[in-house]
Amino acid sequence: MNLIAQAPGRVNLIGDHTDYASGFAMPIAINLQLQIKATPTSGTKITAFSHQLNELIEVDINDRRIEHSSQSQLERFIKAAVTVIKDVNASKLEITSDLPISSGLSSSAAFSVALLMSLGFKYNSKLELAKAAQKTEHLATGVPCGLLDQIAITMAEAGKALLINFSELSISSIPIPNEAVFLVIHSGIYRTLENQAYADRVKQADALAKLLGPLNEVGLEDLKSIKDPLLKRRAVHIITENERVKQASEALKQNDLSCFGQLLYQSHESLSKNYDVSTKEIDQIINYLKSIKEVIGARLTGAGFGGCIIAVLKRKLEKEQLKGMTYFYVIPSQGASLKNC
Ligand code: GLA
Repeated sequence: MNLIAQAPGRVNLIGDHTDYASGFAMPIAINLQLQIKATPTSGTKITAFSHQLNELIEVDINDRRIEHSSQSQLERFIKAAVTVIKDVNASKLEITSDLPISSGLSSSAAFSVALLMSLGFKYNSKLELAKAAQKTEHLATGVPCGLLDQIAITMAEAGKALLINFSELSISSIPIPNEAVFLVIHSGIYRTLENQAYADRVKQADALAKLLGPLNEVGLEDLKSIKDPLLKRRAVHIITENERVKQASEALKQNDLSCFGQLLYQSHESLSKNYDVSTKEIDQIINYLKSIKEVIGARLTGAGFGGCIIAVLKRKLEKEQLKGMTYFYVIPSQGASLKNC
């Protein structure tokens, strides 16, 4: 019997670089997704073909060594998933995806989730699956990512955003007003988190938590003791971003898209000025969007350093208004699923 696992990408509507700091975030899953068809085979090999990468690899399930210098991402993710699952059977995997990679839409987390599901990982809750996918990504990439992407991908509901409180790992769903139109624009900069910049941000947040205590319990008035101006800016982002997420979820509940949009712009400003994760290209696109009256709000989404922008619109724009840009409209969608066939 074959298994087919499907995992969507995610767009974080607001709350970036807060997940690893016990903060808040509000993502949706999107209607671009990755699919893995797994066919059981005999022996000890997992063979995998990725149509998107045009790459075929073979992994022995007893050889779990992960080497960053000599193995492709595909090979490392499969070895990482085999390590996390522990008891894996041989199989042939066929991977298809319309989710752009290295674009801030969580293709790596979608791949980890779909891999675990298609290789028969047994879990008692979606949170357990999300944590196993996070561990897979840590092993495969060495990047100390938080749980935002994996929670969004495993737990999202159609037509809703998730409000995640990372300090207690509590999750609630927030209905999205029907009239909101979501546009994703690619900045044209592809990035990988495997460079130091993301890990540096995590270290800075950890350093702040050591100085101040859990950052979700800290206010701007508590920052007087922080002398390092860079750390101070990082703290300002995390503290104010958490507040914006809470306000944004209230705004959605009240159907107040205009307030929601303003919070998105403020979030971007803080990611750019306090957290230094935007780029010149992204800031230019955001400024351009501010000049269009149909745009309610916009910000970079995900880790930044390139990747994508999410904009909330009153209605779809004219093609002319987006000339020269790579873009797609997205719909808040259901999380990952598994079926037999
Ligand atoms: C990446 C990480 C997430 C999160 C975001 C920024 O997507 O994988 O855990 O930290 O960046 O919000």
